[in-house]
Amino acid sequence: MIENALLVSIANNNRQFLVRSEGELHTDAGIINLETLKTLDYGSIVATHLGYEFKVLEPRAPDYFRHLKRTGAPMMPKDIGIIVAHTGLNKDDLVLDAGTGSGITAIFLGNIAKRVVSYEINHNFAKRAAENVKRVGLTNVDIVEGDILEIVSEMEFDVITLDLCEIGNAIRAVKDCLAPGGFIASFSPFYEQAFEARDALASFTQITTFEGIEREMQFGKRGTRPATRVGHTGFVTIARA
Ligand SMILES: C[S@@+](CC[C@H](N)C(=O)[O-])C[C@H]1O[C@@H](n2cnc3c(N)ncnc32)[C@H](O)[C@@H]1O
Repeated sequence: MIENALLVSIANNNRQFLVRSEGELHTDAGIINLETLKTLDYGSIVATHLGYEFKVLEPRAPDYFRHLKRTGAPMMPKDIGIIVAHTGLNKDDLVLDAGTGSGITAIFLGNIAKRVVSYEINHNFAKRAAENVKRVGLTNVDIVEGDILEIVSEMEFDVITLDLCEIGNAIRAVKDCLAPGGFIASFSPFYEQAFEARDALASFTQITTFEGIEREMQFGKRGTRPATRVGHTGFVTIARA
């Protein structure tokens, strides 16, 4: 039975809605009775009362990235991809994450890892992130309201992801929580923060800093070319204990 769905307009793929199978969805193309989703399978088509069709898809992490409520700037999928690729993050891994923000990184990683424990210092942000995790239906992601700089953990983590301002102090606070051979991956919007991260990781091995540049292709009537806008997000510094 479908509880969560992404509805994608057949006429215009950019028109998408993340919904639950309850109540009604009012769109500019008409109303959809969402209760009907309970009787459908993913891949089905539903129509508004005006006859506009939508494909019913199972939401995945990139859909949640686009549609979940945010409390701040999440890490971008391209940067999360760098972390996954360069740490080999996998289904056996225990992951420590901070700060949680809206929980986007924790949700992406929760879909891959065995368990994710994510620290958020701000009460409202932690609450929102916990709601987002519940909305997604992940039971292996724990949102902890607390200061990562004060972490005391019995657990050892295989991968630690950090996306917050005080990056040097955060690295020093978490490094004893890392399993032998584990990775710390820190995201830094500025060069200066990347330097700070690298200084704090100086005793580690395999220290690498990446800038992930993602360039979408545009296909138009006048021709085909890379999108003119290539945005900087930040640097990912990865090191291994
Ligand atoms: C850029 S956001 C993280 C976004 C997150 N990676 C995501 O993908 O949604 C940074 C977050 O770190 C939190 N934060 C800052 N300092 C912290 C600390 N010492 N311990 C825990 N969280 C902290 C902030 O409140 C903020 O929500």
